[in-house]
Amino acid sequence: MSTPIDFAALPHDFLWGTATSAYQIEGAVAEGGRAPSIWDTFSHTPGTIDNGDHGDVACDHYHRWPQDISLMNQLGVNAYRLSIAWPRVVPGGDGPVNPEGLDFYDRLIDGLLAAGITPSVTLYHWDLPQALQDRGGWPERATAEHFAAYASVVAARLGDRVSRWATLNEPLCSAWIGHLEGRMAPGLTDLTAAVRSSYHLLLAHGLAVQAIRAGAPGAKIGIVNNLSPVHPATGSPQDVAAALRVDGHTNRWWLDPVHGRGFPADMREVYGVELPERAGDLATIAAPLDWLGLNYYFPAYVTDDPGGPAPYARAVRREGAARTGMDWEIDASGIESLLLRLTDEYGARKIYVTENGSAFPDAVRPDGGVDDPERQDYLERHLAACASAARKGAPLAGYFAWSLLDNFEWAYGYDKRFGLVHVDYATQARTIKASGHRYAEIVRAHRERAGRTA
Ligand code: IFM
Repeated sequence: MSTPIDFAALPHDFLWGTATSAYQIEGAVAEGGRAPSIWDTFSHTPGTIDNGDHGDVACDHYHRWPQDISLMNQLGVNAYRLSIAWPRVVPGGDGPVNPEGLDFYDRLIDGLLAAGITPSVTLYHWDLPQALQDRGGWPERATAEHFAAYASVVAARLGDRVSRWATLNEPLCSAWIGHLEGRMAPGLTDLTAAVRSSYHLLLAHGLAVQAIRAGAPGAKIGIVNNLSPVHPATGSPQDVAAALRVDGHTNRWWLDPVHGRGFPADMREVYGVELPERAGDLATIAAPLDWLGLNYYFPAYVTDDPGGPAPYARAVRREGAARTGMDWEIDASGIESLLLRLTDEYGARKIYVTENGSAFPDAVRPDGGVDDPERQDYLERHLAACASAARKGAPLAGYFAWSLLDNFEWAYGYDKRFGLVHVDYATQARTIKASGHRYAEIVRAHRERAGRTA
């Protein structure tokens, strides 16, 4: 039984897209002059990734991108969110530019445009050049400056054809999961390094906004955050306070500085780490943006955990709630409330859902098809919630399903499949799943309606 979507609430020129990131799909890690990133190092460190998986080959998109563009055409999407691998373009992190790396993205962008698909480019989806990590990584201010230089190079080369740019994808993961929880590259568990990283990531964002505007006049620039509505597990004052801290850690720490509100005072106190502030940084971080990117997967229910790591709260699992194969609770109302929060509390003028999707253990039928009713249901419910937010005033301009392809799901390796297209990693065969066919129908239905009412 499908969930009705209020198509009339979505603009005629709505972007219907799919999203991926470089390390998760490209493979070819030692080709075309690419140097290692922190994810090459991390994924080749024993014990870090399920099944000992790594991104060496991944979906082999580096060689198979023409086929992947044709899959997008079969889905009927008019937009594609990709990320550029910094270690392909500036292998040392700073210094010489690798022409072969830029050539690869140049061809990819031309291929997308020729297929009628608008590229939306993210400059950083976690693959810091290892050479910069060796010099201190994100805890060091110089990394932010090198990022801006890399952003200039890419904007100068692609800016004549790419208009939509994102600086960072989910800086929360780079800072908190990579430097505090240790579950992602570079695998540290150090609060000071994490807080310094968060600061330099946002500084890198602000510096890159300046660099892109200088190199690609007319660029439309945003930042992509993964946000969650945060609820206390119980009504106890301790849990209510814990929920406020987790909201600070997950949402406000990333949104407030970019909106000119500085870093939240309550969270500065919670972390107790001095920020590496210099005069003018806050203004740089708060450079005006053209859009906000929302990645939404699940809500958080949290309880006080004074003995745990910052922010001294932990997630609780609600019994009986529907969950994805990641064990993430399914709650489509969360995407609606976040879209409205960005609109009402942060005054967003344009929002893209830059990621939303679900992993389930997909069964390939003997005839080769892939039935994935749970993913289809997740997709429809979340799209209906997006349209409902738009109906209530959220300036939603596009939706990018995560993901085009099954791919390397970081510490979970290849077992967690998020794709609308199934990938058989042994053969690299691609098969559009039932959810992909359903997405194509939804895109078509909106387009037909938009055509009738234009
Ligand atoms: O696969 C990731 C992606 O790289 C960033 N956002 C969340 C996705 C699912 O975990």
